[in-house]
Order: sequence, then structure tokens, then C-alpha cells
Amino acid sequence: MRREGFTKIGRVLAGLVLATLVGGAGDKPTPLDAAHWRPAFARPDHAPTPTDNPATPEKIALGAKLFEDARLSGSGDVSCASCHQADLSFSDGVDRHVGHDGQPLDRRTPALWNLAWGLSFFWDGRASSLEAQAMGPIENEREMAGNLENALRALDADPPMRKAFAAAFPDDAAVTQANLGKALAAFQRTLVSPETRFDRWVEGDDKALEGDELAGFALFVGKAGCVACHQGWRFTDEAFHDIGLPSEDRGRGPVLGVSAANHAFKTPSLRERVWSAPYMHDGSLATFDAVVAHYADHVVQRPTLSADLPRRIELNEQERALLVAFLNTLSSDDPPRPASLPSKAMSWGGDEKAIPTSTVSQKDRRFTPGAIIMKVGEALRIVNDDTRVHNVRLDGPGKSFNSDAQNPGDTVTIGFDGAGHYDVICGIHPEMRLSVEVTQDR
Ligand code: HEC
Ligand code: HEC
Repeated sequence: MRREGFTKIGRVLAGLVLATLVGGAGDKPTPLDAAHWRPAFARPDHAPTPTDNPATPEKIALGAKLFEDARLSGSGDVSCASCHQADLSFSDGVDRHVGHDGQPLDRRTPALWNLAWGLSFFWDGRASSLEAQAMGPIENEREMAGNLENALRALDADPPMRKAFAAAFPDDAAVTQANLGKALAAFQRTLVSPETRFDRWVEGDDKALEGDELAGFALFVGKAGCVACHQGWRFTDEAFHDIGLPSEDRGRGPVLGVSAANHAFKTPSLRERVWSAPYMHDGSLATFDAVVAHYADHVVQRPTLSADLPRRIELNEQERALLVAFLNTLSSDDPPRPASLPSKAMSWGGDEKAIPTSTVSQKDRRFTPGAIIMKVGEALRIVNDDTRVHNVRLDGPGKSFNSDAQNPGDTVTIGFDGAGHYDVICGIHPEMRLSVEVTQDR
């Protein structure tokens, strides 16, 4: 068992701490508002699956086989599972995996839990779907150094494999790159992290957490400010933040071509992280204690720091231990096994009723309204009345737009000279989605 347990002394102190320290030394103690936070962290009852790649048992079984198939690599001895190991939360236990050339890779192998809910993939979000993501490692010279054509030929020459592809894709029974990507994605969407003691507390079992763990949770959603980014049952906002690590890696910035997003990385989920140390995109922090010490003491001050990162987090020794005790409750006691959740076809944010307007707000990281209808020839005004830097991007029929860094106070104007449907997102906060319907007359 690798859980870092909390000491007896901690447990004895916990009751006292709950009564006196929550909310911070010196401040008035704020009691944990359980009625507010329980629903905010409730687990979903199904996993989303895209309409163009529905999950079937045959497809998932094929994906699971491919995940362990070393024929996908150039040398024939590296599979996805070589780096994404089930017992290590589908990570690999090292700061950076040694690549084909004998040198460490640029970034740490991330854990793969709960990616069915992901909005972008890789630390810098450069892949927009799990289907597309898989081709990255296969063809990457330093990861699998594979050649897709050779790999597909080898799989096609193997009769059981051909049969498995035929069962998974009855309408298009071929060993193709598209089907390979779909099967791997369908399998990875089944990697849902199991319930832990924290979930039993969320469901209403007051005794599921010890006093010190609850006090740690109160700090997490209170004075330590963690919940600004680690939100919801997966503990991520899917957004990109610079949290002040000393690494030179520029992360999201080069992907967007926006220097305000330099050093920003995707907020990782905090589920089953006891099993996936070391932490951060560069694997530079070995333990939860080191992570908490980073936020409290070692944030590198630079202009790109996230607006959601508290500028000063004062945590005494005991508060740090409480936060770590809480982080441990998000992991299983034994190596976790995926939970089984039924899947449900979903399209992102498609059901909001469109409002006739051409002005949209971005307050609190949300486009309001989230769906609008405009006339050809009108100009869309997107007003940054938020406290954060945004990056408005649009891809649609015959039109693409990138605002570069849109600072608080800036307004972005986009004109439309043709009718059609356009999706607008923020490149730094991809959970922000705006649907724009442009019609000849509204
Ligand atoms: C040599 C080690 C290695 C192998 C082999 C490997 N990966 Fe990865 N994987 C990584 C690293 C490192 C990253 C992070 C790279 C980055 O963000 O730039 C990553 C990222 C990912 C991500 C993104 C997760 C997220 O949170 O965004 C997914 C999904 C993934 N890999 C799936 C796979 C699949 C599927 C295969 C097999 C086809 C595979 N990996 C093979 C090391 C590996
Ligand atoms: C401004 C947003 C933000 C805030 C606030 C924040 N985090 Fe994070 N957290 C991130 C991002 C982004 C990363 C990944 C950074 C990287 O690798 O460069 C991360 C990484 C982590 C990791 C490592 C996870 C892994 O798998 O590597 C842990 C643990 C963690 N944070 C815990 C906390 C705690 C505890 C707090 C409160 C003290 C906190 N975070 C506050 C955004 C945030």
C-alpha cells in the first residue's frame, strides 16, 4: 500500500482544527458548506461518447488489445501500455520516460483517467480528440517511432486481428488508421476512475472522511484556492494555466501562437494521483507535500501567471498536512481498477436556445449568452468583462479567426458576410463555447 497515511497526532488534532483553523489562522473560521460542495463534486451516472464513434463491446475489446500491441511501434517492443501502465494510473512512475533515442522525453507520461470528459489532449492540448491523439505517439520518433502504414499492414496480415476489426466496425470492416484511432479512443473512454471515500462523503456519508481530511477539503475549496482550477468530480476545469513552475517549457503558448499562454498547461485531474507520482508536466515534484510546498512557497513570479492562481497562499505546516490528507482521499487504497459506467452519446452544449443578439459577455469564464442568432452583415462583439486573459477562436464554414491575447477590457469584433453555423471557443479555457447562427434574416 502506497497511500501516505496521516499520523495519529493529525487525527487527534483534526477536530480542533475543524473548529478553529478552517478559513485560516487569523481569519474568522469559515465552516465547510457541505450542502453547497456535495453537489459540485457529484459523480456523473454515464460517460459521454461522441456520436461519430459510439462505444460497442467489440470496439472496446479491440481497443484494449491494440493498447497492448507492440506492433504499433517501429521496433516492435513498445506498446501504449509500456508507458501507460494500469497499476500506475496508466502512467509510468518516472519523471520523464526514456525515449527511443535513450534521452528522457520532454514531458511526463500523464495518467489516463476520465479522458471521456476531456476537451483537449496532451499537456498543451494540441490534440482535439482522443481519436486523433493516438497517431501522435505511434508516429513520434522518440515515443514509438512507428510507421502507421507498416503497423496497419502487420495487423491486417494477422487473421484474429482482422476478425476483431470486422466485429468492431461491421459497416466498414477494414484495418484502417481511422478505425485504429476509434478503437483506441473507445477503450480509453472506459478508463473511469472508481469511487473513493471522498465520493461516499459526497453521497452523504458523513463518516466516510476523517476530521483531518475534511479540514483539508475545507482548505482546498477555501483559503488555499485550489478549487479555482481543480473543479468538479474530476477536479479539473480543462483549462490552461501557468502555475509558476520553473520549467522552460512554454506549453500552450506555441500551440495557440499566443505568448500570454506561455508556460500554461492543462489542469490535471486529481483522481488516483497517489498511484501516478511524480507530478506536473515535467515530473519535477515527487510527492503531494512537494506539490503543496510549490503552491505555498515556490511559485515563480512572471507575467503569464494564471489569474486564477492566488498571488499568496499562506499555509502553515499543519494546514499543508491537512491538504495532503485530503488529496489522498481521491485515490483508491489498492491499485485502482476502472469503474464501469454506461456510455451515452453526447454533443457538447448543443441544446441551449439561441438568443437574437450580437453582443456577448465573457464574465466568469462563460460566454453569455452561450448560443446566439445574428444576421449576415452584422458584427459580433465579444466583450472581455472578465478578470482573465482570453483567446477567442472561431472555425467554421469558410471562416477562421484568432483574437490573439484578449486582455480584460478588450472587445473583439467579428464580421460575418455569409450565413452558416459557427462555433467560437476560448483557446485558453476550452470549456467556454459559443454557438453562432448567422442567417439571411433573423
Ligand atoms: C514512450 C512512452 C509513451 C508511449 C509508448 C505512449 N505514450 Fe501516451 N503519452 C506519453 C507522454 C510523454 C505524453 C504527454 C506528451 C505531451 O503532453 O506532450 C502522453 C500523452 C498521452 C495522452 C494525453 C492524455 C491527456 O491527459 O491529455 C493520451 C490519451 C495518450 N498518451 C495515449 C496513448 C496511446 C493510445 C498510446 C499508444 C498508441 C500511447 N499513449 C503511447 C508517453 C507515451
Ligand atoms: C490556477 C489554477 C490552479 C490552481 C489554483 C491550483 N492548481 Fe494544481 N494544477 C494546475 C495545473 C495547470 C497543473 C499542472 C501544471 C504543470 O504541469 O505545469 C496542476 C497540477 C497539480 C497537481 C499534480 C497533478 C499531476 O498529476 O501531475 C496537484 C497534486 C495539484 N495541482 C494540486 C493542487 C492543490 C492542492 C492546489 C491548491 C493549493 C492547487 N493544485 C491549485 C492548476 C491549478
